[in-house]
Amino acid sequence: MPSNAPIGVFDSGLGGLSVLQAVRARLPHESLLYVADSRYAPYGERPDAFIEQRSLAIGRWVRARGAKAFVVACNTATAHGVAALRADDSWPVVGVEPGIKPAAAASRSGVIGVLATAATLRSARFSDLLARHTAQGQRFLCQPGHGLVERIEAGDVDSPEVMALLDKYIAPMLAQGADTLVLGCTHYPFLIPVIERHFGTALTLVDTGAAIARQLQRRLEADDLALPANTGVVGNVELFTTANTHALQTMADRLLVDAPQVQPIEIALAAPHVAMPVAP
Ligand code: DGL
Repeated sequence: MPSNAPIGVFDSGLGGLSVLQAVRARLPHESLLYVADSRYAPYGERPDAFIEQRSLAIGRWVRARGAKAFVVACNTATAHGVAALRADDSWPVVGVEPGIKPAAAASRSGVIGVLATAATLRSARFSDLLARHTAQGQRFLCQPGHGLVERIEAGDVDSPEVMALLDKYIAPMLAQGADTLVLGCTHYPFLIPVIERHFGTALTLVDTGAAIARQLQRRLEADDLALPANTGVVGNVELFTTANTHALQTMADRLLVDAPQVQPIEIALAAPHVAMPVAP
């Protein structure tokens, strides 16, 4: 039964707004409910079990607010949490993964850089993905983007510090012949302008926001949950964060027409016995 209920979209922070923007462009008639778990970002520097527990806790919170489907707009939370989320409830859960397949198809040199979080790169899901899509003679240069998510969470997408980090991570890829770069974290599309300015057209950048929006549409249709399109109805957007509202508000105001006021929330861990380690 098509439903007016919102679609939940979740990220460790404001990176998932890059996915929300793509979903909004494709499905403007659907209502969206976004949760940024910025209090615990970056997930990429956290233990696997912690990421899984936060993903479950947020999925349950979003479900309790009446959402009909859930987009895990975070590569790191997908890598470590999507299986538990799917086992926990029977609603449609759409995850994201680094664009290894499109990058393998796009690369001419056969050398492909992958920038993602340390937690994504060490996951079994990522190893499987690489194993499935690496063609003979291709090489993937996998680089953890330490420090980038912290900068972006602080609203910084083009300072000299960000540039220095990008230079440290990307210049060695270029030196080894990379012609394609997978942006394997949903925060990184906000760096596209600075990457293009600095590295020019040397790299084809692969971002999966639009592909996720297509996948979500297919899933809603398959489950008979999609609202009819082209009725002139514009869906509602709600934004929530577990940390200070300022950074999410600033980014949302930049990206969305009529961004709503960000609302602060608290979401306890799903399983209280799991310790909450402090990020290094
Ligand atoms: N935006 C997230 C991702 O796609 C996670 C970043 C983080 O919190 O480390 O991986």
